[in-house]
Amino acid sequence: MTSSYPSSRLRRVRSSEWSRNLVRENRVTVNDLIWPLFINDGHSDIEAIPSMPGVFRYSVDKVIEQVKLAKSLGISCVALFPNTPADRRSDDGKEALNSDNLMNRAIKAIKDAVPDIGIAADVALDPYTSHGQDGLVKDGLILNDETIEILVQQALVQAKSGADIIAPSDMMDGRVDAIRYGLDLDGFENTQIMSYAVKYASAFYGPFRDAVGSSGTLKGDKKTYQLDPANAQEGLREAEQDISEGADSIIIKPGMPYLDMITRVKETFQMPTYAYQVSGEYSMVMAAVENGWLDKDAVMMESLLSFKRAGADGIWTYFALDVAKHLNG
Ligand code: PBG
Repeated sequence: MTSSYPSSRLRRVRSSEWSRNLVRENRVTVNDLIWPLFINDGHSDIEAIPSMPGVFRYSVDKVIEQVKLAKSLGISCVALFPNTPADRRSDDGKEALNSDNLMNRAIKAIKDAVPDIGIAADVALDPYTSHGQDGLVKDGLILNDETIEILVQQALVQAKSGADIIAPSDMMDGRVDAIRYGLDLDGFENTQIMSYAVKYASAFYGPFRDAVGSSGTLKGDKKTYQLDPANAQEGLREAEQDISEGADSIIIKPGMPYLDMITRVKETFQMPTYAYQVSGEYSMVMAAVENGWLDKDAVMMESLLSFKRAGADGIWTYFALDVAKHLNG
């Protein structure tokens, strides 16, 4: 007997929960998560960040409690961003090299208190410069090679403090090569480099700049070093460059507006590839959640799943703790 009905019924496997569970292609797990945390220079201090509802700046003693919680819920790695006191910011950002700066104190304290969680340290000068740029500025230009010399020192100080992953977010050309060489020379051949290779000059970073206190100070934009949002091939060349210089893994940033780049980078290079769901993406979701327009848990999980489906191995997200709690039921 022939039927005029469809011979292939795609709905068949969707018809029950157990079957949907069985055929599911991608999953978000706690192992996928990298949790970015903001640090302040206070004591027993937790400060709200108005443009990122639910995200806080923690003093070093308080951040330890958060990292312990993260570890107990199975989160793989935390990433640290300091809100450097204004009087420690300067034109040359030399506070970045202070082994006792806020960042390095936080790394050491976390390493001591929670030894088995990964610590990623951001390498760039923007939390330390009075102009908010990621590199040295001369006559309005961001200097490439002179900046790299400082970034290598910054990475070394962070590695000595106990950072497991060095994450250069500055977008200078050649910095992965220089940092790798500097780390190896000092005996840090096992310190990973996770490079923000495909980082766009995005308007989605606004709330982050509030969080680290550089939004008021930033002069100009970052378009001479971060990628043009219009460009995909150039993004692949950035990834290729960093991989050839020794990057262990690659970050695509922002996340949801650049899912195409996650897929292309993963398919082209087959490297460990991470999505960074940036501050503005988080804030957009939370603004809608606070208005009662979106369901927080559902949208959070769907957004992270989209990164896995696109090909990401893991995700930097401000939702990490909420996700871990959700997954731990
Ligand atoms: C700076 C840096 C930025 C972010 C991570 N590292 C901002 C920028 O480039 O201005 C953004 C992260 C976010 O928006 O969540 N080197």
